[in-house]
Amino acid sequence: MQYTQKVLDHFMKPHNVGKMEEPDAYATEGSPACGDQVTVYLKVNKDTQIIDDISFLSYGCASNIATASIITDLAKGKTLDEAKQITWRDAMEALDGLPPVKVHCSVLAADTLQSAISNYEIANGLKEVPEFSKQTILDELKKIIYPKVGEDIITLKMVKYVGFSNGEVLIDLNIMSFDEWRENIAEEIREHLQKYPDVKDIQINFP
Ligand code: FES
Repeated sequence: MQYTQKVLDHFMKPHNVGKMEEPDAYATEGSPACGDQVTVYLKVNKDTQIIDDISFLSYGCASNIATASIITDLAKGKTLDEAKQITWRDAMEALDGLPPVKVHCSVLAADTLQSAISNYEIANGLKEVPEFSKQTILDELKKIIYPKVGEDIITLKMVKYVGFSNGEVLIDLNIMSFDEWRENIAEEIREHLQKYPDVKDIQINFP
């Protein structure tokens, strides 16, 4: 697999690595695609809302370590509002790219940073626990990467319809039966949505 020099540098000498003692907030997220995990820890200045310190622990692949390393670099010294704008695309760009099958590693790193920020905001009364809605489903679908090209399934227009009522999620996917990734994508969608207590059933349809 072809990695850029920046990925190799961050993998071999990761920045901001290690468990933080007494963090103000933290989050652990796992990737349904591979089972790898990342934890991100934050220390936030209460007056300025600046991320004074940030670190991570990785339980995953080389790209998992490299993307977590770069995402902590990108967030350090930023205000919470600025850090909320950091996406997996920023992490990819800062690493000069990732192979398509490894793009989900950057999604996991960005997602974990955003969860840690969200946990901080909820714990400090800066926001309420978000309600589950159709938008939550769309946000989750945006995190699912089609491994052949390394792009998310919303951008690739693979999602034809999304509905949610009485705990039932209904998704129509525009993925043909001959596509080798079809079942894999459906399984990942289920794993992303099953973690929400409001979701009782998930129906995924194909053409
Ligand atoms: Fe899944 Fe890297 S985080 S292979």
